[in-house]
Amino acid sequence: MKTYHIAVIPGDGIGKEVVPAAVKVLHTAAELHGGIKFEFTEFPWSCDFYIEHGKMMPDDGLEILKDYEAVFLGAVGNPRLVEDHVSLWGLLLKIRRGFEQVLNIRPAKYFKGLNSPLADPKNFDFVVVRENSEGEYSEVGGRIHKGEDEIAIQNAIFTRKGTERAMRYAFELAQKRNRRLTSATKSNGIFHTMPFWDEVFNELKADYPDVAVNSTHIDALSAFLVIKPELFDVIVASNLFGDILTDIGGAIMGSIGIAPSANINLNGKYPSMFEPVHGSAPDIAGKGIANPIGQIWTAKMMLDHFGETELGGKILEAVEWVIAKGIKTPDIGGTATTAEVTEAVCGRILEK
Ligand code: NAD
Ligand code: IPM
Ligand code: MN
Repeated sequence: MKTYHIAVIPGDGIGKEVVPAAVKVLHTAAELHGGIKFEFTEFPWSCDFYIEHGKMMPDDGLEILKDYEAVFLGAVGNPRLVEDHVSLWGLLLKIRRGFEQVLNIRPAKYFKGLNSPLADPKNFDFVVVRENSEGEYSEVGGRIHKGEDEIAIQNAIFTRKGTERAMRYAFELAQKRNRRLTSATKSNGIFHTMPFWDEVFNELKADYPDVAVNSTHIDALSAFLVIKPELFDVIVASNLFGDILTDIGGAIMGSIGIAPSANINLNGKYPSMFEPVHGSAPDIAGKGIANPIGQIWTAKMMLDHFGETELGGKILEAVEWVIAKGIKTPDIGGTATTAEVTEAVCGRILEK
């Protein structure tokens, strides 16, 4: 019997609702498999924890997490209690950075029964490879002057290593999929970093002659994702561009409550972290109606990461079946609760 040891951080808001739902699905998947089990250790690190302790997690938080095989996180943020940049840099971004989770993999695809806002959603199926450790998310910069002359300066950091790493991963992923790769750029307006981004992309493409490439400006690319998402296979994007594109990915599926993500540590030194694309959704927290699909699909990505791809496939199949049956939370046009969707997914997994 193989046991996977997983650190669980439900976090804030609906994180506390969708994480237990996905944990239930994982236990059900283990039951079906028969040869694996999950041991979950829960950590209450969140904005409530901050109110009590003055920090989002203990000082040795990363040390505590480092020996788990993965971190399974819900969402962080309760702007009424703690400023977002404090809570996010104190927990989510601290783990991404501290554990060198340099890539964020975020798929989006259409499946039957999803009420996409697109008039004619073709069978789109793409993956965004988001650079996850540098780019526009940096602590370099500051504030100068006061009053009406005040200036805030934010430096974007693009290293050759970080840029190449994300792009090579995206090229290799494209080779395993439909061999098309789009680079999200903005070299017409951003003077230093984006021409550099293009330069690295153009250099690397020679190593992957079997992948059809193009570079598209982020503004046009955002529009194309709404108008013709079926054009895309793999998209490689900087940290901020990838963040924005993947909320669009969620939106065209019908809700950002569906979109999953995996923060990948590539060097094997630290665990990877699995969390949905969405946030803590304070507007619906506590009502029992949060869509658990994003967190459940995220659990599937964690299983894939462990090499349990067959089991991961069963979870996604169950999700697709439940949605096609119309068992849906209100954000995607249904009346089901979080618990009802979760029960239906578990039921379908065991039925097979
Ligand atoms: P959000 O994703 O929390 O919510 C945006 C909208 O989508 C809301 O209307 C919400 O109700 C809806 N939504 C999101 N997930 C849903 C789900 N599973 N089911 C149904 N509806 C869902 O984004 P926001 O409002 O910008 O952020 C709220 C808080 O979450 C902030 O503190 C923000 O910083 C934080 N945040 C955290 C993460 C993370 O931890 N990974 C990601 C994004 C935002
Ligand atoms: C996400 C979130 C985070 C990000 C925020 C909360 C810092 O939006 O995971 O998509 O921008 O990476
Ligand atoms: Mn985001």
